[in-house]
Amino acid sequence: MNGKIALLILVTSAVVLAGWYYDGSRLLRADLRPVVIHDVAVLHPRPGPTTNLTKLSFLKGTARPTTMSQPTPEDSRQACQERTKIVFIKTHKTGGTSFIQILHRFGYLRNLSFVIPTRRNTGSMNGLYPKGLKKKSNYLPPQGGAFDILAYHTIYDRKAIADLFKKPENVAFVTLLREPLSQFRSSFNYYRLAKSFNIVSETPMASFLQNPVRYNPRLSLPSLTKSPMALDLGFPPTAVISATALSLRNHSEKYSSTIRDFARKISEEFDLVMLTEFFDESLVLFKRMMCWQLKDILYYKSNGYIYKQKEEVLNEKLRQSHKRWDVVDYPLYEKLNNTLRGKIKELGNDFLSEVDHFKMVNAKMHQYCLGNSNIGERDYLAIEKSTWNEMFVITPDFCTLAKLGIRCYMTLLRDRNLRVRNASHNTNFPTNNAYEPLTRIDNDKRYGEGFYTERYCQICEDIKRDCTLNEYLTHLFHERLIYPFDTSFYVSVHGGRGPVEKTLEE
Ligand SMILES: *[C@@H]1O[C@H](CO)[C@@H](O)[C@H](O)[C@H]1NC(C)=O
Ligand SMILES: *[C@@H]1O[C@H](CO)[C@@H](O)[C@H](O)[C@H]1NC(C)=O
Ligand SMILES: *[C@@H]1O[C@H](CO)[C@@H](O)[C@H](O)[C@H]1NC(C)=O
Ligand SMILES: *[C@@H]1O[C@H](CO)[C@@H](O)[C@H](O)[C@H]1NC(C)=O
Ligand SMILES: *[C@@H]1O[C@H](CO)[C@@H](O)[C@H](O)[C@H]1NC(C)=O
Repeated sequence: MNGKIALLILVTSAVVLAGWYYDGSRLLRADLRPVVIHDVAVLHPRPGPTTNLTKLSFLKGTARPTTMSQPTPEDSRQACQERTKIVFIKTHKTGGTSFIQILHRFGYLRNLSFVIPTRRNTGSMNGLYPKGLKKKSNYLPPQGGAFDILAYHTIYDRKAIADLFKKPENVAFVTLLREPLSQFRSSFNYYRLAKSFNIVSETPMASFLQNPVRYNPRLSLPSLTKSPMALDLGFPPTAVISATALSLRNHSEKYSSTIRDFARKISEEFDLVMLTEFFDESLVLFKRMMCWQLKDILYYKSNGYIYKQKEEVLNEKLRQSHKRWDVVDYPLYEKLNNTLRGKIKELGNDFLSEVDHFKMVNAKMHQYCLGNSNIGERDYLAIEKSTWNEMFVITPDFCTLAKLGIRCYMTLLRDRNLRVRNASHNTNFPTNNAYEPLTRIDNDKRYGEGFYTERYCQICEDIKRDCTLNEYLTHLFHERLIYPFDTSFYVSVHGGRGPVEKTLEE
């Protein structure tokens, strides 16, 4: 059978099934806290399977590339094999959350092993920072024999990472840098530095830059204002302190070759250094390098990311002052800016067209997942085949996974890890595919509460803290721990479209 027809039948039957269970899910959508489905079902009898709300909109949602150019040769694409081993060194305040969301979704859907901090509090994303990889008790053992992805904050230490990954030569090393002044603005706002430095001024950034050493004399990690990106990438703190001191005395030439060597080292050791200013370009480069699909790099950026506060204007003198202060980050950024620009230029028009295409598809996904498009509530978004991608569909559960907060993902991944490892040495432990009717739970308890038990989760309280019920139920479907017939919730219809349920926090 033709693949497209098979997909159509699959999708259609999923939607028809979903029609049976619509009522409860509509209520769940409106109300993100657990609701009593038992009562709801009595009040609103389920519609029969003949409901006509199930038509697909393959035509409405189709996508065509805005510009066509030379197709990549079919055979070279076939030779390409998806790579799954990734080390992402997340630098502070550079916008890495969007990238982590991509890695999270990719690894989650493929059941890959992440390096997950043992610490379970809400700040556990920092559990490997600065040097947490050196101690085994800081992270959980891999669930599948070897690690696949390292994504959370840690200082770049190639040796420690090589010890962690069985075959480090197969691992793609990736990081993300941001134009230093823009990185500074982001840190300044995020860490509320005006307040912690006791700056009382209408223009706190300017006050700071007039005399940075007065406000931020010491160096701590993560560094607030002193060459933070270089420090995250392993430039020694003592060297940053000396370089900054010399720079303030206008003697930075003494350090310039050390700094240039460092920038060259980063450029050589990393397979890809992405730039926040060219995020979409960086992602397409990443996709090509990793042999991933267009769907894999789609990302959902919530409005919560956009900083609403008015930007403080900084004159040339203050910019120069920042350059002297943030003395390692500037040459680092400049070098990697040249490297990335060089790569993009080399790839030419086909690459730029692919970036345009990607932006357009991503915008469609956004619209669809926000629920703002004119595509019917129950319909899927179809993205047509193009030079760069096979045809694929975006379903509401994709939206759920694209919007899932970073903490929720981390907690679900941690839970999966504990579960898989526990199951392997406990034969009485419920495993995946162990479908059991849930009627007792549905009828006897508040809907939802029954899912926060050992049968479904290892760290149920954390999941309650970090994920909404919808997100959690979507997870249980993906884990094949609940079955559509057993609940009034259906993953493909429910949950994903509409406003983000929790802010995607960093
Ligand atoms: C459902 O079908 C009825 C009649 O068959 C039609 O009037 C109505 O517009 C349809 N609803 C949708 C959403 O297509
Ligand atoms: C995920 O991987 C682990 C370890 O390789 C395995 O035991 C488990 O069954 C997998 N889960 C699924 C849903 O494939
Ligand atoms: C360093 O150079 C800047 C101009 O680049 C100048 O304004 C400043 O006074 C100099 N500082 C010292 C200590 O020489
Ligand atoms: C990055 O590189 C481009 C071209 O090579 C240049 O025009 C731009 O000014 C550079 N940006 C920074 C912040 O250095
Ligand atoms: C495994 O399960 C047992 C009991 O079922 C529990 O006490 C233990 O903490 C679990 N271990 C992990 C790693 O979750």
